[in-house]
Amino acid sequence: MSRIAYINGQYVPTSSASVHIEDRGFQFGDAIYDVWSYFDGVLADYSGHLNRLKRSLGEIEMELPISEAVLHQILLRVARLNRLKDGIVYIQISRGTAPRDHAFPATFVKPTLVITAKPVSFARIEERARNGVAVVTCPDERWARCDIKSVNLLPNVLAKQAARRGGAFEAWLVDADGQVTEGTSTTAWIIDDEKRVRTRTLDRSVLPGVTRESLLRIISGVGYTLVEDAFSPADVHAAKEAFLTSATTFVMPVVSLDGKPVGDGLPGSGTMALRTAYLGSIT
Ligand code: PDD
Repeated sequence: MSRIAYINGQYVPTSSASVHIEDRGFQFGDAIYDVWSYFDGVLADYSGHLNRLKRSLGEIEMELPISEAVLHQILLRVARLNRLKDGIVYIQISRGTAPRDHAFPATFVKPTLVITAKPVSFARIEERARNGVAVVTCPDERWARCDIKSVNLLPNVLAKQAARRGGAFEAWLVDADGQVTEGTSTTAWIIDDEKRVRTRTLDRSVLPGVTRESLLRIISGVGYTLVEDAFSPADVHAAKEAFLTSATTFVMPVVSLDGKPVGDGLPGSGTMALRTAYLGSIT
């Protein structure tokens, strides 16, 4: 079955869906995106991702091009048309199509709205969580507005590729002060012996993770304390556990960093408790 995409008001086979060669997303990366996981007919953390999408658009002087109610219907329809059971739903909104000029088009152009859906085996993610994943560190070479979920992802792409080449699942990016900012597409966390769960404070150096936000509400209920503070690779090596979060991995144990085991080198009990609590909380 060919996958179906939504593009500017039409549902078309993904294989024949296209954007204009002068789309500003294509030419300048002048576009915002977001990703929901989808299962049992539900877009997980729906409003968290919608709110972040609207915030990102606002930061680049754009707005949602359609009403929220219509958007919700389209997202669900794309999932259904693709007969999605488990998977992800992706949205991208660019500033639209105009003759190439770095500055915004002088007159209003219609934004380009694309929505796609992709099956992802949650059983496979579960299996990965049972084993945990390897992470490597890379210098954070991104721009100064990583809080905006824009499609400018070249440094993320290069670091993820370096990780894959090194047999790792993810790269954790390290800033000029030697502190971990986040993963290329995930939020970074550690847990110490005192049951303190640590992740970086939100500022322009990281994406405000929606899974992060949901997890913050769960941590104390599982018997842990939250510390919002940066940590270094050395802190990861001294930690009891480490994990990463995102819409596509949920809560994923990290069992090694740069080839050295984290804690005892196995998925940690705190991480797994948080994973179970998070999965149970998804609405
Ligand atoms: N990535 N940090 C970065 C740089 C990300 O790209 C993401 C999400 C996260 C985690 O955010 P959330 O918990 O809201 O998914 C953190 C998505 C999954 C992606 O790019 O595909």
